[in-house]
Amino acid sequence: MDARDKPGHDGRNKLAPNMTDTLEASRPSPTAVPAPPLLAVRNIEVVYDDVILVLRGLSLDVPKGAIVALLGANGAGKSTTLKAISGLLKTEDGEVTRGEILFEGERINGIDPDKIVRRGIFQVMEGRRIVSDMTSLENLKLGAFTRRDREVDADLDMVFTYFPRLKERTGLAGYLSGGEQQMLAIGRALMARPKMILMDEPSMGLSPLLVKEVFAIIQTINRDLGVTILLVEQNARAALSVASHGYIMEQGKVVLDGTADELRDNEDVKEFYLGGAGDQRKSFKNLKSFKRRKRWL
Ligand SMILES: Nc1ncnc2c1ncn2[C@@H]1O[C@H](COP(=O)(O)OP(=O)(O)OP(=O)(O)O)[C@@H](O)[C@H]1O
Ligand SMILES: [Mg+2]
Repeated sequence: MDARDKPGHDGRNKLAPNMTDTLEASRPSPTAVPAPPLLAVRNIEVVYDDVILVLRGLSLDVPKGAIVALLGANGAGKSTTLKAISGLLKTEDGEVTRGEILFEGERINGIDPDKIVRRGIFQVMEGRRIVSDMTSLENLKLGAFTRRDREVDADLDMVFTYFPRLKERTGLAGYLSGGEQQMLAIGRALMARPKMILMDEPSMGLSPLLVKEVFAIIQTINRDLGVTILLVEQNARAALSVASHGYIMEQGKVVLDGTADELRDNEDVKEFYLGGAGDQRKSFKNLKSFKRRKRWL
């Protein structure tokens, strides 16, 4: 039987054993206790303005050191998920009304956003949200607002080595190109020395070449600095090229998850998220098959 025909107990279709199982399988000692994920979102429900139910029992795990992709169409609830984790929901009259969010094993839902930054989670918002009437340098220093150590200048140098263009552009950040603004937003996150970065659609509005460049930097940051990344994207292809695991969400729930390779090979994912399965989609007579119902619904 196809794995997709056997939803798990939570109603979600699973392509792979869950991530902790995978890690456990590769562990040398059978007696070792499996490491808990760095971030665990457990069955959360989110409501805006006391009435609008947007997340309906969403769960996901992000292992330490991983890049995990969260994919889905417009309005699926991807940004809401990130805001629930970073605490920024509060600024939009949103609330986690059920379930819990655990970071390093501790519950963080309900905590103020600045305290969540201090714990090591930094969100790079959708649309970049840099301060346009400040310089790049001033924007980067803003990212270090929680820090009291003396290594801020050294970290500024580090950010400029990742993004040399930012050093050259000394004018106001509002005049930077879309790609440069995205790089500045990522650089600002790095200035907080986060354990984990939540990225909301870093590819948005960028040319294919710049998308490649930004995603290469995301991968480098993850590898060099060991920063764990939860990556929200509509560009599933770009996200799955750097992620080890992915979740697909629709209407406030995860409907499918698996390793990046498994998701890339999945027919539904190809059809609905990766821009068609090769030549078939180009042919009008195959429109019927293209329009068929998603198997996970
Ligand atoms: N502040 C808010 N108040 C009320 N409803 C909201 C608010 N923010 C989002 N929503 C609703 O929640 C749903 C999910 O929105 P969300 O922004 O999380 O989706 P998304 O997956 O990030 O979409 P996109 O790909 O377009 O960014 C949408 O129906 C949206 O209208
Ligand atoms: Mg969004």
